[in-house]
Amino acid sequence: MKFHITTFGCQMNVHDSEWLARALEARGWEPAGEDEAQVYILNTCSVRDKPEQKVYSELGRVAAHLRRDPAVFAAVGGCVAQQVGRGFFDRFPHVRLVFGSDGIAGAPGALERIAQGRDDRVALLDFVNIYEERERPNERTVAVPETRQAFVNIMQGCDNFCAYCIVPYTRGRQKSRHPDAVVEECRALAASGVREITLLGQNVNSFGLDKGGAGVSFADLLRRVAAIDGLDRLRFTTSHPKDIAPEVIAAFGELPNLCPSLHLPLQSGSDAVLKAMRRRYDRTRYLSIVDALKAARPDIALTTDLIVGFPGETEADFRDTLEMVERVGYESSFSFKYSDRPGVAAVNMEPKVAPEEAGERLARLQSLQNSITRKCLKKLEGVRTDAFIEGLSRMQDDGPTWWKGRDPAGRIVNVPLAEGDGLMGMMIPVSIVEAKKHSLVGEKAGSPW
Ligand code: SAH
Ligand code: SF4
Ligand code: F3S
Repeated sequence: MKFHITTFGCQMNVHDSEWLARALEARGWEPAGEDEAQVYILNTCSVRDKPEQKVYSELGRVAAHLRRDPAVFAAVGGCVAQQVGRGFFDRFPHVRLVFGSDGIAGAPGALERIAQGRDDRVALLDFVNIYEERERPNERTVAVPETRQAFVNIMQGCDNFCAYCIVPYTRGRQKSRHPDAVVEECRALAASGVREITLLGQNVNSFGLDKGGAGVSFADLLRRVAAIDGLDRLRFTTSHPKDIAPEVIAAFGELPNLCPSLHLPLQSGSDAVLKAMRRRYDRTRYLSIVDALKAARPDIALTTDLIVGFPGETEADFRDTLEMVERVGYESSFSFKYSDRPGVAAVNMEPKVAPEEAGERLARLQSLQNSITRKCLKKLEGVRTDAFIEGLSRMQDDGPTWWKGRDPAGRIVNVPLAEGDGLMGMMIPVSIVEAKKHSLVGEKAGSPW
């Protein structure tokens, strides 16, 4: 069978899609372009209204392929699938499988049964209480990614119930994966040539607080993974500020392969809004974490998520957010207009901020961020660093080949190099020669590479 996967949403969804693709390939299925596929899999995101709406328009596009091949069918997975469930079967007759975040483990088998005509329609929507280990496609089918980078799940779900957020409803309760299984997967990846690992979870700092973590804290887990031979770069995402332990902050100064960057979602800079959001930290606590991080690792690059126009947010609240953004000096941020999601607490909070007002605040915030980003990147001109090569740059010219790499903090560094191929997954020493708007330009440094 030929399949095509479209992924929306966070890195956890990206990772889930990669796993699903490998599990299907292990069954002899083939990835295919949009025009040739027989099975269309949409891995969906429900965090705001926009990505949810995209799922419906995408399913409409898939229906058009039925004219080419009446056997074409679709599967919907991820957070919108968990939310809408069997509702997809009524609205879209060509949807034959829906699977939620825990149901994904059974998706390859279900797709196979449907394709063979042994099942008509399947819904895998149950949550399970423990982290369910997924099948690991056998060694021959697990090609080491050419980029030599990998994601590793350490937990599922979220127990925080921030007032605006649908994730606890779509991903279920927090379930830590057994630490030995995490370390074992990381070790196997490193042994097969992977040099950079990102540990994934909705709130990695609360790893181990449920019983699945077998009493191992996130700081302990980080240490165990960082000690694996051959692992040059270790990252993790996402961190909730309220749960970050002093030992995790200290790890930035102690573990040489723990990369100097942290995504630490602030959401709002106003104490009143943070309280209404049920974030359970305030400005003072957040700033003390930032200070401790900078003390542990002075070159740490901080990034964040921000919501504008949360119900009740005043102009003064919004200015507090601008002020915090300036004070912390985030290298970059993702910012969003508050979007009502079904079933979350904020739906009933008043007054709602008018969309034009929220749009105007978002534009002001993003323009401030752009100027801070430019300043942060400008400061790096002249700095010597390493670029881990991920692939060819989008921009090429008549000269040498432009390669795209990342510095230890994850910033994009484009470097011109004589080699036209064979550099993926290589670490190249570079000097930063120019800061662009959102990326850096480097030059190979004269080192014994
Ligand atoms: N677990 C992660 C966030 C996952 S959702 C964390 O806690 O940091 C990613 C981001 O989407 C959130 O950080 C938030 O900024 C944004 N978001 C979530 N719900 C939203 C909503 N209803 N409207 C607008 N943005 C939202
Ligand atoms: Fe959503 Fe809050 Fe959980 Fe993050 S911590 S996933 S924002 S409920
Ligand atoms: Fe979206 Fe679900 Fe991730 S709502 S952000 S795909 S956890």
